[in-house]
Amino acid sequence: MIRRSLLISLACFTACLGHAQPVPLLRIIPQPASITEKPGAFTVDKNVIVFVSIEDQKKLPELPFFLHQINTTTGLNLALANDSSSKKTICIKLTPAYQNAEGEEGYTMNISGTRILLTANKPAGIFYGLQSFIQLLPPGKNNVLSIPCADITDHPRFGWRGLMLDVSRHFFTKAEVKKYIDEMARYKFNVFHWHLTDDNGWRIAIKSLPELTKIGAWRVPRTGGAWSYFQPAEPGEAATDGGFYTQEDIKEVIDYAHQRFITVLPEIDVPGHSLALIASYPNLSCTQKKYNVNPGTQFYTKEDNALCIGNDSVFMMLDKIFTEVAQLFPSQYIHIGGDEAFKGFWETCTKCRKRMATEHLKDAKELQSYFIRRVEKMLQSKGKKIIGWDEILQGGLAPDATVMSWRGIDGGVEAAKQKHHVILTPSASTYLDLYQGDQNAEPPTYGINTLANVYRFEPLSEGINASYVLGGQGTLWSEAVPTFRHAEYMTWPRGLALAEVFWSPKNKPNWDHFIDKVENEFKRMDALNINYAKSMYDAMIKTSIDKNGVLLFRLVCEVNNTDIYYTFDNTNPDAFSKKYTGGNISFPKGAVQLKIITYRNGHPSGKQYRVYLDELIKRAKDKPDF
Ligand code: ACM
Ligand code: ZN
Repeated sequence: MIRRSLLISLACFTACLGHAQPVPLLRIIPQPASITEKPGAFTVDKNVIVFVSIEDQKKLPELPFFLHQINTTTGLNLALANDSSSKKTICIKLTPAYQNAEGEEGYTMNISGTRILLTANKPAGIFYGLQSFIQLLPPGKNNVLSIPCADITDHPRFGWRGLMLDVSRHFFTKAEVKKYIDEMARYKFNVFHWHLTDDNGWRIAIKSLPELTKIGAWRVPRTGGAWSYFQPAEPGEAATDGGFYTQEDIKEVIDYAHQRFITVLPEIDVPGHSLALIASYPNLSCTQKKYNVNPGTQFYTKEDNALCIGNDSVFMMLDKIFTEVAQLFPSQYIHIGGDEAFKGFWETCTKCRKRMATEHLKDAKELQSYFIRRVEKMLQSKGKKIIGWDEILQGGLAPDATVMSWRGIDGGVEAAKQKHHVILTPSASTYLDLYQGDQNAEPPTYGINTLANVYRFEPLSEGINASYVLGGQGTLWSEAVPTFRHAEYMTWPRGLALAEVFWSPKNKPNWDHFIDKVENEFKRMDALNINYAKSMYDAMIKTSIDKNGVLLFRLVCEVNNTDIYYTFDNTNPDAFSKKYTGGNISFPKGAVQLKIITYRNGHPSGKQYRVYLDELIKRAKDKPDF
């Protein structure tokens, strides 16, 4: 979650997204590097065999899982064979000599009328090829599983393609986390960034520090309302909301992700965002005050949620935590947070001031940098590298740190200049907790980052040294995400756009082409009970105030060929109401509310919703759109 307001340009909508490109026959998300369509089709039926040589079977321990994925998708019972005498085969083959074009994760797939040949250098490439294959099967219940003939060559643009899930602000169960990982794997994401700790819940069992999950994982239950204003615990009120993962749970999730070629990146967020840790061990903050785990957090306030950097017990405690984390997670990286630490208590704390004096640190920023460097050394001694949010640049970067750039891309540009690796997750383009449509049509959150805005994101613009960019991530903070269904709603379809941003070539096909594929994917998601947002079909209201002080508005919809209808007379709009035909509109005399709805191909497509004039005036005054 971010504390500062987002400055997001809303000026460029469908106009800059382009039109007129033939509807694809092969709909794959993320868009492959190259597809050549050919005449004819391969029909998958019960006579098809999956041929893999004995030698390759030994190198592909995941094969039974791959086959299971195909069979659950097709409803068939395709079997593995090591002779290719059948008339129709899906042939899976590891290339005998390394092909540079395919690399570590790429594949080629040649589809003819009688054979699908999938080749890759590595098992990951085979897995991604099969994810593409599954998307080529028609969605929904269909007896004829016909795949158009084509030659596909594919490999990712970036090696790091992540999604982050915050399980602290709201807890998601192990089964839900596994479902999230399943969903990621379908679109070739390869890093699951697990935000395991924050102010509102500690979610990972640390055997040597049982208080962390006895106390830190639980808070008083609150629901509805605004996260920032949830009433803190009343005296004697039981902390019943929360949960945590045992180390066995975590191993299970790591194995599950590994089978899907996803690395699990754990985040232990320190020295800020540490209230759950401080509630469990109150001696760790500068004030040493005793707190409950809070059901919400007041952003914009000076929170007492940072660890005391002058206190050696903090480093002893962190050593215990990171020893267990490093043993548990095979990832070469551990994310140590580093974001949004309030430095006010450090400035007045006797212990912190003493540390600053003895270490010759000129200010609180250098004290933070001292902390990060010390944690980096601690992790290096356990064989791990650190990643931190871009605030770790303050006061000087730790020698080998990788920077996750979230406050725009400036942190990434700077870190790359200093020859550090960078992962791009600028909030304005990749954060998944922001509004994805008009705020009146969506559950309350903050900022805005629509599907088209995500799709437009170009990671390597603005002068960043590309050789230091590992890739990027989408980020789902969960203050306003109380259920897993809603986590899915916030992730999809924006996650589909992110998959294209980080996998597909820079010059991917146009927006209409993408929307066509997204709609195809919606049918598949319906069959899998994946909740996705249909916000892209809704109208959005853009506001301004003219020189006479009158509110003007425009209506836009990101999906092309959409008709927008509206009323001012409090009735529900339909296709016989006034149709928006462009330009600026003002409220007629007496009107206090605007109601809008969208239609596509003569049928309602988006939500009908209402906005009051007062609210639009406030919006236009705060931040005019044109
Ligand atoms: C962040 O959004 N605080 C990384
Ligand atoms: Zn202190």
